Amino acid sequence: MYNDKVLKIFENPRNAGSLPGANGVGKVGNVKCGDIMKIFIKVDEKEGTIYDAKFKTFGCVSAIASTDTACEMIKGKTLEQALKITNKDVIDALGGLPAVKIHCSVLAQEAIAAAVADYKKKVNRAANRAAKSKSTVKTKTTIKTTKVTTKTTSTKKIGM
Ligand code: FES
Repeated sequence: MYNDKVLKIFENPRNAGSLPGANGVGKVGNVKCGDIMKIFIKVDEKEGTIYDAKFKTFGCVSAIASTDTACEMIKGKTLEQALKITNKDVIDALGGLPAVKIHCSVLAQEAIAAAVADYKKKVNRAANRAAKSKSTVKTKTTIKTTKVTTKTTSTKKIGM
């Protein structure tokens, strides 16, 4: 059913496991077969490049080989380049998949997209928090200035 390359990757995946410090995590699943894939990515925020990727997959031989290959393919890529990787690219890199297992490669493509989306969501959230924090500092400064003005005014009145 599977070619030698798929079986070799399934037996010795290069990217299996969790990735401490990952700043993007994508989890997808297929309700029909019940397989679940999780891809973890570490993105260099300055470069916008994925410099490490790992996976945890609960699924078939093809699901594990597809996720491992997807991780291999996105390393060193920009987020935009990673999003352009299709399930067909994953199948080609594996040297082919049985027709009934094509959906496993689709799941891998979706897991990449979910991990990138999660990273972007976290970056946006951090930017919003930083913007709110700046506006809070400005408000505090304004309040202090008002207090000083009030004190000066009352000192003048006492001296009159
Ligand atoms: Fe569903 Fe492989 S059988 S992902």
